[in-house]
Amino acid sequence: MIPLILSGGSGSRLWPLSRKQYPKQFLALTGEETMLQQTLGRLAIEGMSKPIVVCNEDHRFIVSEQLASISQDAQTILLEPFGRNTAPAVAIAAMHLLAEGRDELLLVLPADHVIDDVPVFHQALGVARKAAEQGAMVLFGVPAERPETGYGYIKTGPDAAGLPVGVLSVEAFVEKPDLETASEFVAQGDYVWNSGMFLFRCSRYLEELQRHDPDIYDTCQLALSRSTRDMQFIRIDPSAFECCPDNSIDYAVMEKTDRACVVPLAAGWNDVGSWAALWDVQDKDDNGNSRSGDVMIHDSRNCLVHSQSKLVTLVGLDDVVVVETKDAVMVAHKDRVQDVKQVVNNLTCKG
Ligand code: GDD
Ligand code: MG
Repeated sequence: MIPLILSGGSGSRLWPLSRKQYPKQFLALTGEETMLQQTLGRLAIEGMSKPIVVCNEDHRFIVSEQLASISQDAQTILLEPFGRNTAPAVAIAAMHLLAEGRDELLLVLPADHVIDDVPVFHQALGVARKAAEQGAMVLFGVPAERPETGYGYIKTGPDAAGLPVGVLSVEAFVEKPDLETASEFVAQGDYVWNSGMFLFRCSRYLEELQRHDPDIYDTCQLALSRSTRDMQFIRIDPSAFECCPDNSIDYAVMEKTDRACVVPLAAGWNDVGSWAALWDVQDKDDNGNSRSGDVMIHDSRNCLVHSQSKLVTLVGLDDVVVVETKDAVMVAHKDRVQDVKQVVNNLTCKG
């Protein structure tokens, strides 16, 4: 099994801490190690090969330094000149492995997730391995316990025919529903969140991609065939990759294939996709406040306060996020943190 670490996101919902040049996967948000390092640290099990990382060209030295500092060594770091979303990123890695004669199981892992219960994650990997060896496209599904609008939802059916017990069939996919729909899904009880983690054989993914999104397949093949190698780095050809459609693995493949199945994962998973999600996983005081840096809080509850360069004080506030960095201050209600992304879109010059 080869881990494929997707590390090309911009983490814009965690602005102003997460920046284009230094996005959240490279930050230590929940402990001493960065999200990327924690992701790799969870893979110490038998039969796991060295990882492949796919990231933006600008981040190549951050990635290689962060790996080296935890004594890890990638077999390859694939460099994208710009992001074309997750379907092409996975395609290029699968094509690269196939070209090297390694049609192995590919474990797709975002570089920026938290998993509390690593033994449970390893158990799920064991079940998923059996299903993927039989040709299935496994999606790790987290029981949907609250109406999150930043996730994809999957309606699960009974056990999938011919696969190990406990591997569920898929009845429907709904990517990022509105709050009302998400609440209905949670009430129904048979929905899981799409964790964004997948397991399948390289050739299986490419077969399904070729069937359901041939443009991505063709442009990725061309871009990889024109790539250049520089030690452990492989640079994807920009002029070919530029023509690649921008699409996620969820929309391009997982929603369309009839080989998808769900392995349930109840392991304290969190995608740290917003300030509220980060607050969920951080240590908090008796009033539910999480803080870092020079912070004073008086008569306030359930806030997240982060200070980098100045003393930040809060008085009489509930459910508020305050993030201070050297060049920006962001204050938001905890219920509105998904909108930080829109602010960042309007601020591209701040990077
Ligand atoms: N290499 C590379 N290139 N990586 C990418 C790119 C890209 O162009 N775009 C995104 N990624 C990485 C991100 O760094 C992240 O680790 C992962 O792929 C998922 O991308 P996101 O942009 O964070 O997706 P999302 O959070 O909006 O939605 C996905 O994840 C949710 C769970 O976290 C979907 O799969 C949802 O269905 C899912 O619920
Ligand atoms: Mg995400």
